[in-house]
Amino acid sequence: MKVVAIANQKGGVGKTTTAISLSAALADLGQRVLMLDLDPQANATSGIGIEPNSEGSMYYPLLGEATLAEKIVETHINNLSLVPSGMDLAGVEIELARSDDHLTRLRSLLDPVKQADLFDFCILDTPPSLGVLMTASLASADEVVIPLQCEWFGLEGLAKIVHVIQQIRESHAAPDLTIEGILMTMFDGRTNLSRQVVEEVSNYFPEQLYKSVIPRTIRIGEAPSHGKTIFEHDPNGIGALAYRTAAKEFLQRRGVKKRSPKAKKKNKLKS
Ligand SMILES: Nc1ncnc2c1ncn2[C@@H]1O[C@H](COP(=O)(O)OP(=O)(O)OP(=O)(O)O)[C@@H](O)[C@H]1O
Ligand SMILES: [Mg+2]
Repeated sequence: MKVVAIANQKGGVGKTTTAISLSAALADLGQRVLMLDLDPQANATSGIGIEPNSEGSMYYPLLGEATLAEKIVETHINNLSLVPSGMDLAGVEIELARSDDHLTRLRSLLDPVKQADLFDFCILDTPPSLGVLMTASLASADEVVIPLQCEWFGLEGLAKIVHVIQQIRESHAAPDLTIEGILMTMFDGRTNLSRQVVEEVSNYFPEQLYKSVIPRTIRIGEAPSHGKTIFEHDPNGIGALAYRTAAKEFLQRRGVKKRSPKAKKKNKLKS
């Protein structure tokens, strides 16, 4: 199981939309996916049609009072499971900040899930800001995918997150953490600015920049209010196409061959 954090400390750049859409598209491509909602806003949870729930969140596991496996729930999407979030998760920030092992606790919780080989990918939806939940997410990940809005402030944000990732590596909590990809979001083809920003990123990060670019579309913005993914809300629209293509690129970049979707496995950890 590869742990992939979807991260950018800048708010509203498409992290959650990317976490949900990428997870759902990978699941549809036959990958066994676990999405972890680590944002107290719980947008990934409600966006996939599940009631935010503090009891069921990472709150107790992070405090050492439950395992992560106990919190895994199935979603309505085949091959896609979730650990939901809830408001109380915000309280963990304070508790964790006091502990010496705050950077490695999430990683330790993920270890048994990795060993059980129940999932191919664990996608972390992380909160904005540089709090403990965000840094702990980065420290527990193998790779980061950075969603980046096609605007100038996006570039400033990129410099910051690259710096934070460097710091996490140097802290030895996750020395091998890599920026696997940068996914441009909310691209507006009518403006030169969007194109200029993509070009700028490709100059500095040619390897990391995804060829797939996510357009700004009303349909992508609407989908979470129905608790649906873009693939259900507007399956043939340009938003669904873009995220589907991005998910294929995500797998190609890792040399993963497409699998035929198969029946969901029972949660062995729970039994
Ligand atoms: N490609 C897009 N086109 C149109 N709207 C989008 C697109 N991507 C995201 N949105 C909308 O923009 C808003 C912010 O997106 P999202 O919640 O994914 O960002 P975020 O980075 O997770 O935000 P936060 O930092 O608050 O967690 C949401 O209302 C979402 O529906
Ligand atoms: Mg979000």
